[in-house]
Amino acid sequence: MALNADDKALIQAIWPSIAAHPDQFGGEALYRLFLCYPQTKTYFPKFDFSKGSAHIKTHGKKVVDALSEAVKHLDNIDGALSHLSDLHAYDLRVDPANFPLLAHMILVVIAVHLPKKMDCSTHEALDKFLHNIGCVLTSKYR
Ligand code: HEM
Repeated sequence: MALNADDKALIQAIWPSIAAHPDQFGGEALYRLFLCYPQTKTYFPKFDFSKGSAHIKTHGKKVVDALSEAVKHLDNIDGALSHLSDLHAYDLRVDPANFPLLAHMILVVIAVHLPKKMDCSTHEALDKFLHNIGCVLTSKYR
């Protein structure tokens, strides 16, 4: 799903507010993912799933930092996240069906914390962006 110039500008405009709190935004998205879709917990056998746990915050920060890297390379997300694409496909073998679930949780968390910035066009741009992230991270499965 190609991002047009407006999408890119909207993503770059809102992202600093997200990147400034990576453990909070990422952690809350993961917490909601584990709560709403408990089957996703099977990928994290040694995690403490309680709200605000160090595991959840640390991993949430890794996820948001990776997304921040992608935002810096909106014209080459494939290249920017190539190592993560290998990791999720070859080592972790995460079922591709899980990526839209996490993407949805990230959108929810952004809407909760930044309601004024999350207008319809920004929502759409972020939805496309996260869809593309999911495509990149599952692109090595075949
Ligand atoms: C927005 C999509 C996603 C992004 C940006 C992302 C990013 C990352 C990053 C940055 C790491 C750490 C890599 C490292 O330590 O070198 C990671 C690890 C991992 N990811 Fe993802 N991920 C995403 C989606 C998912 C989904 C949907 C699942 C499964 C439900 C998943 C499961 C895992 C697991 C199990 C690990 C290893 C955790 C550990 O080392 O304890 N990821 N991911």
